[in-house]
Amino acid sequence: MKRILTGIKPTGKVHLGNYFGMIKEVIKLQGKYEIFLMIADLHAQTVPYKPQELKFLTYELTSSLLSLGIDPKKTVLFRQSDIPAHLYLYWILGCLSYLGELYRMHEFKEQGERYKKIGVGSGILMYPVLQAADILIYNADLVPVGRDQVQHIELARELARRFNQRFGKVFKIPEIHLNPETEKIMSLDNPLKKMSKSLPEGCLEIFASEKEIKEKIKKAVTDSGQEIKYDPENKPGISNLMVIYKYLTNKSLAEIEREFYGFGYADFKEKIISAFFEYFKEARKRKKKMTKNYLEKILNQGKVKANKIAQKNLEKILKITGLR
Ligand code: TRP
Repeated sequence: MKRILTGIKPTGKVHLGNYFGMIKEVIKLQGKYEIFLMIADLHAQTVPYKPQELKFLTYELTSSLLSLGIDPKKTVLFRQSDIPAHLYLYWILGCLSYLGELYRMHEFKEQGERYKKIGVGSGILMYPVLQAADILIYNADLVPVGRDQVQHIELARELARRFNQRFGKVFKIPEIHLNPETEKIMSLDNPLKKMSKSLPEGCLEIFASEKEIKEKIKKAVTDSGQEIKYDPENKPGISNLMVIYKYLTNKSLAEIEREFYGFGYADFKEKIISAFFEYFKEARKRKKKMTKNYLEKILNQGKVKANKIAQKNLEKILKITGLR
């Protein structure tokens, strides 16, 4: 069976964009691949954070993933910081990477800009090197990610090639796996920007209270005119709501246009609200039942399984690089 590795940072609660961007795709691939799904808590440390919050969000993300359908019998769900081999390989790959290629990363440029005033930590620069180590330490065949991560995975591929050339063939060159669902989910209050936790008003968290979800959908920015029509250029607000409705109902955009012909925006929003609660009904129920003990147990199981593979590969790497 081919192997998958991917990761999610515990920097916020899971929202619609995370789910339809990557999580759903991983759930779909369960059983067809051997999956390693990692809570990227070390990556969460690259920007200022509060320790208690990181701890809370790690459990929060674990319980969200399990509630949404990550099956710990099929998927190794683990915490990045539980597996020391990632950090060994991170260092080795860091010594092989060039400053120029790291400075060129879009995410480095964006985050670098955001933290310019308080100082840009070197963790932000080294971020993709750690990400490459996450992937390569498992010799993953496939990496499912959102489009924003493509550049990082390309760097991982390049570092794998460079390592193999320098020391001998150890790593597979991992393939990038993009979600075939092409429309990005945009922020509800600014449909020109991607839905993200940095725009809290427009971000629909899957496990938020019923009240909050209803309010956010009702407040979502719409456009002038009154037609429910897919036209992302002239009607970005309504088009985004249509994309959300499409993902929640599996209907095509054309079907949605027909369904809501002659209806107003408010009616459409009511339908989105019920589609949301219908779609996530079971997950929201399951989430309430997750206990801390159960989450600990799952993360521990993941730690044991991930460590075994990572440690074995690390030994090979230490030998071939002359450390042993
Ligand atoms: N950087 C990824 C993100 O922000 C998270 C991540 C960390 C990751 N390590 C990874 C994704 C390894 C894929 C593979 O989405």
